Amino acid sequence: MCGIIGYAGFRDAAQVLMQGLLLLEYRGYDSFGIAIDTVTDLTIMKRVGRISDVKQSIICGAEDAENRGTVGIGHTRWATHGPPSDINAHPHSDCTKTIAIVHNGIIENYHTLKEKLISDGHVFSSETDSEVIAHLIEDVMYPKQNQGRKTLVEAVEIVTDMIIGSYAILALAQGTNEIVAVRCKSPLVLGLGDGEFLFASDMLPIIEYTDQVIYPDDGDIIHINQTGYYVHKRGGNKTGVPYNITTLTLSPQQVKKGGYPHYMLKEIYEEPEALYRSIRSITPDTLPKSLKDTQCITVVACGTSYHAGMIFSYMLEEATSKLVRLEIGSEFKYATSPVHGLLLAISQSGETADTVAAVKRGRCFNAESVAITNVLGSSITREADHTLLMHAGPEISVAATKSFIAQLGVLLQIVNCLHNEDFNNELTRVHQAIVPVLSLSFDTAVDLCMDAEHMFYVGRGVFYPIVMEGALKLKEISYIHAEAYAAGELKHGPFALLSSKTPVVAVCLPGSTYAVMIGNLKEMKARGTPLIVLGDPRSPELIELADHIIPIKPEGTMIDIFTTSVALQLLAYHIAAKLERDIDKPRNLAKSVTVE
Ligand code: F6R
Repeated sequence: MCGIIGYAGFRDAAQVLMQGLLLLEYRGYDSFGIAIDTVTDLTIMKRVGRISDVKQSIICGAEDAENRGTVGIGHTRWATHGPPSDINAHPHSDCTKTIAIVHNGIIENYHTLKEKLISDGHVFSSETDSEVIAHLIEDVMYPKQNQGRKTLVEAVEIVTDMIIGSYAILALAQGTNEIVAVRCKSPLVLGLGDGEFLFASDMLPIIEYTDQVIYPDDGDIIHINQTGYYVHKRGGNKTGVPYNITTLTLSPQQVKKGGYPHYMLKEIYEEPEALYRSIRSITPDTLPKSLKDTQCITVVACGTSYHAGMIFSYMLEEATSKLVRLEIGSEFKYATSPVHGLLLAISQSGETADTVAAVKRGRCFNAESVAITNVLGSSITREADHTLLMHAGPEISVAATKSFIAQLGVLLQIVNCLHNEDFNNELTRVHQAIVPVLSLSFDTAVDLCMDAEHMFYVGRGVFYPIVMEGALKLKEISYIHAEAYAAGELKHGPFALLSSKTPVVAVCLPGSTYAVMIGNLKEMKARGTPLIVLGDPRSPELIELADHIIPIKPEGTMIDIFTTSVALQLLAYHIAAKLERDIDKPRNLAKSVTVE
């Protein structure tokens, strides 16, 4: 939610910031802006809309030589306080227009602070919570009596004692040629180049310039200029703290579209490799002992990650005697029953506020925690006792696809490792089994859905969470309203909505649920619904019932979970592509949800 970037070096900062913001746009794309310290001036350029929609020369004032500088900050916004507008776009500045800040997060006590600042004579330009930060810094740097002035570094440190909430903040003051940063519960990475230093919400904009990064801790005050970086603990002495420098293995090439029309399609095509890596990363030796020993696991996650957790719970309870309690991240704080055993948190980004909070809450019950995430150094990895990386590689498209498949790879391999008996390990070849699904044609299925405003997705057993994920994918990228139901539940109400205008997508593969699914499909067919079924194309019942069969070769549940999931992702993708939706950046969404 919101992406921030800062650059201090020898390049044209506006260019570096704009290119970086393009890579951060998946975090929010309501509006954007940059501030450049030109030494004689602080130039702020910001506007509503997407960076990709605007000619870069206009934004960077490329023709305007006096707007150039080598130190600057930038922001791409996902609106929380105040609607998307030029005024509410970041950077925000103070009354003197010599201080600029960008902020990712929420300032919870902004209202009280704003009232006090206004009564002290400050004039606000925006409706955002973030603007208070600029005015607070101004108050400390330029006090009324002109006495006790502070530097930008000192001011940022003092201001962080006044604000409550979650934040990653970058601050710039005209003529100082430095950027000061602080974070608390919002992501921030510092890149260390040769004569250039960058801050960003994630490493994507950094890898173009350096593979050396630092993940600052909450409360650290970090400042960069063209000659170096300096870190000290908030309230601690200013001599600096030693930091572990991480070398990234990601190449700039990996975050490009590589000829695909959308990142989503590219990421789906990367699934066989991602799955192979994720399964391989889990062995009985890499599993934390507590995960092996515990009898109860509380799984907490949001959205797609929650669906992965749900599949895990079906499969683990079937294969072992362990008990799984499943909680939606945002609801977990209202659950009063204590956490017994281990807490397993699943989050692609590692930044989802509710999932990270769940790990902290688990600690109150003395529950050891394991995080499954895709992002090394993310907030969840700092909070959890153990981290298992899913190794999906960077996921840029807002809709989670390959990370879901990699999560399932990790989770089902855990099931595999915890299984008591000898297990015929289908997971060793599942990455190959999904390859043929990538070349299936979805044309007929897409045509059946083209005019639909509402759709239903149905499945039974472990295929129920799979259709939940399929429906989520469809609604977020196509904007068609899609509801997922356990197939037996439709009769308990939703049947009233079925008609020839409500296509039903069903997963119906041979196995224990097959016969009863066929019965359910017949009931739906009798109400005139078009039926699209993911199933064995040789099944006589399906040939008779389905308007279209998406052919899935039945290979046993462990493999069918993956093949059907990939097919449902592709179905959603092709429907959205035909509707010409903005697939990688669906309206109103952001990839990492860092607010409750
Ligand atoms: C849907 C999607 C979201 C995320 C959810 C949790 O395609 O991407 O539902 O799954 O916001 O995000 P993470 O896994 O980063 O915690």
